[in-house]
Amino acid sequence: MSQFVQSIIYENGTVTILDQTRLPQEERYEVIQDLAQAIDAIKQLRVRGAPAISLFGGFILVQEAFRRTTGPLDEVKQELLTVSAQLLATRPTAVNLRNVLDELNQLIVSATTLAELAKRLEQKALALYEADAKTSRQIGIHALELFQSGDRVLTICNAGSIATAAYGTALAPFYLAKEQGIPLAVYASETRPLLQGARLTTWELQRAGIDVTLITDNMVAHTIKEKNITAIIVGADRITRNGDTANKIGTFQLALLARAFGIPFYVAAPLSTFDFTSLSGDEIEIEERATTEVTQFAGQVTAPAGVPVFNPAFDVTPHELITAIITELGVIEQPSVETIEQTLGLNTI
Ligand code: MRU
Repeated sequence: MSQFVQSIIYENGTVTILDQTRLPQEERYEVIQDLAQAIDAIKQLRVRGAPAISLFGGFILVQEAFRRTTGPLDEVKQELLTVSAQLLATRPTAVNLRNVLDELNQLIVSATTLAELAKRLEQKALALYEADAKTSRQIGIHALELFQSGDRVLTICNAGSIATAAYGTALAPFYLAKEQGIPLAVYASETRPLLQGARLTTWELQRAGIDVTLITDNMVAHTIKEKNITAIIVGADRITRNGDTANKIGTFQLALLARAFGIPFYVAAPLSTFDFTSLSGDEIEIEERATTEVTQFAGQVTAPAGVPVFNPAFDVTPHELITAIITELGVIEQPSVETIEQTLGLNTI
């Protein structure tokens, strides 16, 4: 898996991240010294993407556990559960972090010694990291079956290798296609206001030698028509039981355009992105971010002082607009409560 840049590195109790806000100008790594820095890194999107945030959160909990190897067991357990709650409060929309922290919290609660506690958390966090790379590759294998040689596929934001342990979700089929010599062209929508498409998706695909073309977000309809786009594929931050999908702001309008043009609209996501406690997208909390992300561009003021701003970071695409959700277990066509349960072999009710 050496073709991938590692966006999260865990070694002997220390967590290091690739600062994604510096890309593409600079590949700068940052050692996380304490919890405050970890929380800031998530909030400022130095580490970002739903799976990556969850893997990072897991490793931070491990790091905090190794710093508490003495003291009364119950007190340390309580402190770690507080750390976990603080991590969870960083970004409300992506559910992967909650799913990972729930698993790790169970290990904290059931530990019988401090030494065992840190070690078990570490084993679990490392296993989740290893599994994520395999999961993403499986998503890529299933997604690639939906494409044909020569297809031109549009995506938004960055659901790529740096948003996961490797491969990514929405970008995984393009890595697989490259490995197999299948030509696919990717169109990356720049993704205002923070430009994950322009800064991150084009950067990682270009360095992998994958055919990628950058457009601004307002060029999508024209590009679908003029460049004969054959499909749209996006990642996800939370998928509810009926298949409604929260993803980067701008995703919903892509789904509407796909419907208008009669092309498929795919969501690629691991099972850890499903929220089986929520029935529909109406229950998803949408993160709203600082107004300066909209009123400034690259540090320059681009709007009059005091103008009201609405800056939601995500939107929800209704399941009716989604052609299929691609998971590591397979492709869920026409997502709904029934098709999701059937394909995943689950009973979520
Ligand atoms: O705000 P971000 O950059 O964390 O948003 C990321 C996305 O919306 C991704 O599509 C999603 O997290 C999936 S990443 C595999």
